[in-house]
Amino acid sequence: MNVLISEAQIQARIRELGAQIDADYPAGPIYMVAILKGACFFLADLSRALKRPVRIDFIGISSYGKGTSSSGEVKLTKDLDTSVEGADVLVVEDIIDSGITLSYLLHVLEQRKPRSLRVAALLDKPERRVRPVKVSYVGFQIPDKFVVGYGLDYAEDHRNLRDICVL
Ligand code: IMP
Ligand code: MG
Repeated sequence: MNVLISEAQIQARIRELGAQIDADYPAGPIYMVAILKGACFFLADLSRALKRPVRIDFIGISSYGKGTSSSGEVKLTKDLDTSVEGADVLVVEDIIDSGITLSYLLHVLEQRKPRSLRVAALLDKPERRVRPVKVSYVGFQIPDKFVVGYGLDYAEDHRNLRDICVL
């Protein structure tokens, strides 16, 4: 396995994203919604890079089976604990590939009338996009390679690697 983005690079970029988000948002809490399970690591670090109150919650969406390509099917497997009506919602995602997962989720969340709804994704594979999605904060654009680590899995393995590696 080859390191594509090191732990130090990830952490430095998250500090930059945190500063940018703090500067962009009006005062008040941000309601951070991480997509299970891969985005948990990014949520933990990004939330601590912010100098403002945050709320965190989790949403479960299944779009992939055990392989490395999208099934195209999306379903909600775990919903949020509370209402996001009137809240500044920031969806936190590990990686955007086809965009199918995110476009489905944004559609679901928009109907709940948040005050604002934006996306922060650690990784983006723009070449693979099938559905267009607006992503306000991107950590790194990467080539079309399957990566693991820092939350990302292959068949549930490798999530605890500190670096992002090419399988
Ligand atoms: P999308 O719906 O195709 O954009 O897929 C997004 C989801 O696919 C992510 O949340 C990941 O769980 C998974 N995924 C996409 N690319 C990779 C990868 O390179 N490594 C691990 N998981 C990936
Ligand atoms: Mg996954």
